[in-house]
Amino acid sequence: MKPPASNQYRDAWCGTLGSGDIDREVALAGWVHRRRDHGGLIFIDLRDRTGIVQLVFDPNHAADAHSLGEKLRPEHVVSVRGVVLRRSEGNVNPRLATGEIEVSIRAAERLAEAETPPFPVDEDGPVDEILRLRHRVLDLRREGMRDALLLRHAVNRTIRDHLNGLDFAEIETPLLTRSTPEGARDFLVPSRMNPGAFYALPQSPQLFKQMLMMAGFERYYQIARCFRDEDLRADRQPEFTQLDLEMAFVGEDDVISTIEGLMAEVFAVGDFPVAAPPWPRMSYDDAMLRFGSDRPDTRFGLEISDLGGALAATQFKVFAGALAGGGAVRGLNAGRRELTRSELDSLTDHAKRFGAGGLVWAFVQEDGSWRSPIAKFLSDDERASVTETLGGKPGDLLLAVADREPVAATALGEVRLELARRFDLVPSGRHEVLWVIDFPMFEQDPQTGALHALHHPFTAPTGDMADPAALRSRAYDIVLDGVEIGGGSIRINTTEVQQQVLDLLGIGPEDAQARFGFLLDALRYGAPPHGGLALGIDRIVALLAGRDSIREVIAFPKTASGSDPLTGAPAPVDREQLDELAIRALTRPA
Ligand code: AMO
Repeated sequence: MKPPASNQYRDAWCGTLGSGDIDREVALAGWVHRRRDHGGLIFIDLRDRTGIVQLVFDPNHAADAHSLGEKLRPEHVVSVRGVVLRRSEGNVNPRLATGEIEVSIRAAERLAEAETPPFPVDEDGPVDEILRLRHRVLDLRREGMRDALLLRHAVNRTIRDHLNGLDFAEIETPLLTRSTPEGARDFLVPSRMNPGAFYALPQSPQLFKQMLMMAGFERYYQIARCFRDEDLRADRQPEFTQLDLEMAFVGEDDVISTIEGLMAEVFAVGDFPVAAPPWPRMSYDDAMLRFGSDRPDTRFGLEISDLGGALAATQFKVFAGALAGGGAVRGLNAGRRELTRSELDSLTDHAKRFGAGGLVWAFVQEDGSWRSPIAKFLSDDERASVTETLGGKPGDLLLAVADREPVAATALGEVRLELARRFDLVPSGRHEVLWVIDFPMFEQDPQTGALHALHHPFTAPTGDMADPAALRSRAYDIVLDGVEIGGGSIRINTTEVQQQVLDLLGIGPEDAQARFGFLLDALRYGAPPHGGLALGIDRIVALLAGRDSIREVIAFPKTASGSDPLTGAPAPVDREQLDELAIRALTRPA
């Protein structure tokens, strides 16, 4: 950061002082990071936004300042004046950017005192997360959080600079709006002026950005807050931030190459080593088959194979039943691993958590035979054929799941990820980005047969509309290290196709008119072909910063239960306020 014009408190930044400043008189301001009293000399590490510099209070040089120095404690706020000096040889601190110098203090003023913080601000060690969130102001002073938020700022700035350079227009869209179907529950906001009616907070600006294309803006972006009432995880928050983008007169390749150019810059700013674009594209079917996931982590092997061919004629009930019912048997070779029975059981539990009935395991022995509870149910040929399909060698552990195809794929995909965690299979420092394309347009509910849009109902389909289950969509997701960091599609731009798709989703013309009439109307007045994408900024910054949770890159996040320990939100409100909104609460919060 460049020093701004000086003000009454400072004319230099702590973190940028160096040997070039020797003998310079500087004014600094900030927080007491650490204090050491050497009986006589007092050393204080002073911290501002740019970093830390060592101050020396010497009673022989400045008695008043030194007696203030005796009273200073961590997190007190001070403004000081002093001279930059080279540290003596033995006192150079190579771990500190300013470690070659120190500032010999001439005058000091305390601007504010501070109570003892509930956790140390001067170290980044583990602290209970609720405590951190409760005292977020102190937590944000810590180096790790400061770096994460400044990285986030750099990412946002890069995004804006890049897109402004490509003539994208930044346009804001409403937060008080109607439901946008992104697949989660809405957060609702009551309207005092319209009792009994509610706004929905946007799950994304999807419909507005499409209308901006119909309005002729051609290239739009927005760093947009989105709201989704869904179960929270490490990479999900109820409010999160997207880079939302839309372009007119484009096809898939235009959007993909625009995002590749942008993300390459974002990776460069984050000093994050990935291959230069263009990035590989993998079909959804391929991703589901080989990795059991539509956001495949390709940084390690253990790819999944279909065992249907090897087991086509099997008599073993579990496999035969799955195959006869149109399901699948999928397997992977976990490699040479010694797993105990209880480790295998916990792996089986892991598969069950993702819907599988069980997990079949087999160790390939020296002579090619199997040590496995199901060895006796398969013929020699079947075992040999499974071993061969999975490339099994003596010592290898083979794993398989038989189920409905999506369950078999997903459960084994999750087992694959669990193996990677347990055995540390991801090479350190390796990062991979790829596109997943050719998604099915719809998912079918196995019980009711009802169709759901895999992306959202405004995504353009390809294929024969007469065979909806086989339709593909013109959607694309971008995946980094097994995390979906963005998704988008080419959109429907005619009323007819839009209504057909809504019909297939069971949203008839009247219902459609009531919910999305504004979009259908706009489509009638000349909609250009258009498409776009939204990137999850929280997830991208978390990956760049190497953090496990997006909470680590959000200034004021919510806990897993959706609450904010800092402000106490969500909180009960006064009866009068509810009356004004014509609302009655049926329960009081716990
Ligand atoms: P989608 O729903 O895939 O697409 O969202 C885009 C990206 O936003 C991020 N994301 C989230 N991040 C944190 N917390 C959440 N709860 C959360 N939900 C999603 C993910 C995801 O890839 N309107 C479409 C985009 C389009 O079609 O242009 C949309 O919102 O990284």
